[in-house]
Amino acid sequence: MTAAPEDRWATWLARRRHGDDPDLLRRTLEYLAPVRDRVIAGAHLEDGATALDVGCGDGLIAFAACDEVGESGSVIFSDVSESLLQRCRELASEAGVVERCRFVLARASDLTAIGDSSVDAVTLRSVLVYESDKAAAFGEFHRVLRRGGWLSLFEPINRFGADADVEHGRFFGRDLSAVADLAAKVRAVYEAIQPRDTDPMLDFDERDLVRLAEDVGFAEVHLQLNADIESPEPIAWETFLNTSGNPRIPTFGEAMDQVLTAGEAAQLTAQLRPQVEGGLGDRRSAVAYLTARRS
Ligand SMILES: C[S@@+](CC[C@H](N)C(=O)[O-])C[C@H]1O[C@@H](n2cnc3c(N)ncnc32)[C@H](O)[C@@H]1O
Repeated sequence: MTAAPEDRWATWLARRRHGDDPDLLRRTLEYLAPVRDRVIAGAHLEDGATALDVGCGDGLIAFAACDEVGESGSVIFSDVSESLLQRCRELASEAGVVERCRFVLARASDLTAIGDSSVDAVTLRSVLVYESDKAAAFGEFHRVLRRGGWLSLFEPINRFGADADVEHGRFFGRDLSAVADLAAKVRAVYEAIQPRDTDPMLDFDERDLVRLAEDVGFAEVHLQLNADIESPEPIAWETFLNTSGNPRIPTFGEAMDQVLTAGEAAQLTAQLRPQVEGGLGDRRSAVAYLTARRS
C-alpha cells in the first residue's frame, strides 16, 4: 500500500502540537490519558459492541475502544485525514486488531458511509472544534446510534480563555501591555484566520453543546464543565516559538515573522520570553465532557 501524503492534521499531531519537544509531548500524552479514559467510560462499551470514533486522529480513543469491545466487537475509525486513517490502519495491523477495525474517510457532519442505527457508541475528542456544521454532526451521531447507545465526547471550550484575553488585554494569558501595538499585530494574524465570532473553534460554549444534543433528539444529556485558572507551566522559548495551538494557525514564531520586523520581534521577545520561561501569566482553560443517550 502506498503511503498517503502527510496532511496538516497528521503533521500537527506528530510535531506542531508540541513544537517537536519530547518533554511537551510527554506532558500532552499524560494529560490525555485520563481524558481518554473518561470518554471511554462515558461510551458504556460492552464486549461485542460496535464503536465509532469520529475524528480518530492517530487513534487515542479508538484503540482504547478496541480493548473495551473485545474480540467479538468492532471499531470504526473515521477522520477527514487519509494519512491519519492509514497510520491507524498500520497501528491496528501491528497490534493484531485490524480484522475488527473499519476505516472511514468522513466529516463529522456527513457520516453517510455509516448506516442508520448501526453503532452502539459514538466517541469524539477535540473534533467538534474543527467542525463548522455542529448541528449536522449531532444529527449524524444520533442517526448512526442504536436505541440505548451512548454519545461520549470531550471538547475544549476555547472561548473561556479567548474572551478573558480580550477583556484583560492579555495575549495567551501573558501581559504584553508594554508592547501592546506589536502584540496587536501578531494577534491580528490569528484573528484573520480565526475570527472570534464565527470560527468553529470559538463560536460555541458548553451550553451550545447541550442544546445541540437536545435539538437532535437525545432525551438524556449530561455535561460536566471543568474550568481552571492557574499558572502556566514554564516552557522553553524555542518550544513556544515552534508550537501552534491547532493545525490551522501558524506557530508563534511564524506569526511574528509574518508581521514584525526583526527589531520589533526582539522587543516583543524581551517582554514575552521571561514570562513564557518563568511560567508567569495566567492559563485559563475550560473543557466539557458530554454524554447523551439515544432513547
Ligand atoms: C485534535 S485531533 C484529535 C484526534 C483524536 N480524536 C485524539 O483524541 O487524539 C482532531 C482530529 O479531528 C480530525 N478532524 C478535523 N476536522 C474534522 C471534521 N470536520 N470531521 C471529522 N474529523 C475532523 C482531524 O483530522 C484530527 O484527526
